[in-house]
Amino acid sequence: MDINEKICVITGGASGIGLGLAKALISRGGQVVIADINEDGAAAAAEALGPQASAAALDVRRSDSFEALADHVYATFGRVDVMVNNAGVSGGRHLLETPEDEIDWVIDINLKGVWRGTSVFGKRMCDQSTPSVICNIGSENSLGFIAPGLGIYAASKHGVLAMCDVLRHELPAHVKVCVACPGLVTSDLSRSSAQTSPRPRLSEAELAMADQVMALGMAPEEAGEMIAKGIEREDFIIPIHPHVVKIAETRWQEIADSFAAHAPYTPDSEKYNVLKIVGKLLSGNN
Ligand SMILES: NC(=O)c1ccc[n+]([C@@H]2O[C@H](COP(=O)([O-])OP(=O)(O)OC[C@H]3O[C@@H](n4cnc5c(N)ncnc54)[C@H](O)[C@@H]3O)[C@@H](O)[C@H]2O)c1
Repeated sequence: MDINEKICVITGGASGIGLGLAKALISRGGQVVIADINEDGAAAAAEALGPQASAAALDVRRSDSFEALADHVYATFGRVDVMVNNAGVSGGRHLLETPEDEIDWVIDINLKGVWRGTSVFGKRMCDQSTPSVICNIGSENSLGFIAPGLGIYAASKHGVLAMCDVLRHELPAHVKVCVACPGLVTSDLSRSSAQTSPRPRLSEAELAMADQVMALGMAPEEAGEMIAKGIEREDFIIPIHPHVVKIAETRWQEIADSFAAHAPYTPDSEKYNVLKIVGKLLSGNN
């Protein structure tokens, strides 16, 4: 997709990766709506970005908030060409010690929030006759295991990838789906998450350590450039950090080794392929 003069919506665009992507889309001639729960941050970002940017309030935990945003954007611009579901939080606790309300908080924002944005905007994009792209922000944690303490976060980001993988086979051809899978990017994620977490999660010393780690990440502008290129190419998976291929290979090798040991493939194996079974039943050719 050529981004020039395209209408782009970015959830959680007030800071970090969303803001970096806003800059990349604007540099390509796009018109960007920054939608964030941090209304002051979104307004300040839009003002700094200039006339190709505007701000809107959004809480991704609420479908009616997405409907109000979509009403506003369609009333203002008449269409949406690129919808980026980027808003997210990072939960970080060992799984056995993770309280249920913290699980609900992470899943509600990172997984259901992406679904809400995809559903509310996706329906309207399907009704548009013009080509459009839904770009959802996953993580390196969508592709494999990264580190202890990230269990629920990884589950939410695996969920984003799984949801998008199905979605791309459900949508009409003019609506494309991308999943960006960044590794470490310098952003406000630890601190913005600590502010909205249902319970104090990290001590000030732990937050200071998280700040040090986050400061060593890729610049959000660089990550934003790479995501914008992926949207232009309409690629399904948009990798950002090259070392993540090793994480994905480790996952794949474990799967391949397990199949070789327990369930080696033969042509006869296709008799249990559910897609083929359903296809035959639907065509009456069984
Ligand atoms: N920074 C990283 O290392 C990294 C790596 C991989 C994936 N990600 C993902 O990138 C996305 C952006 O994160 P970031 O690192 O730029 O962090 P960030 O904190 O800078 O940006 C997140 C934005 O989401 C907004 N937000 C939070 N809850 C919201 C809600 N309920 N409704 C609307 N907006 C809300 C915040 O106000 C903030 O502006 C997240 O989905 C995150 O999981 C980040």
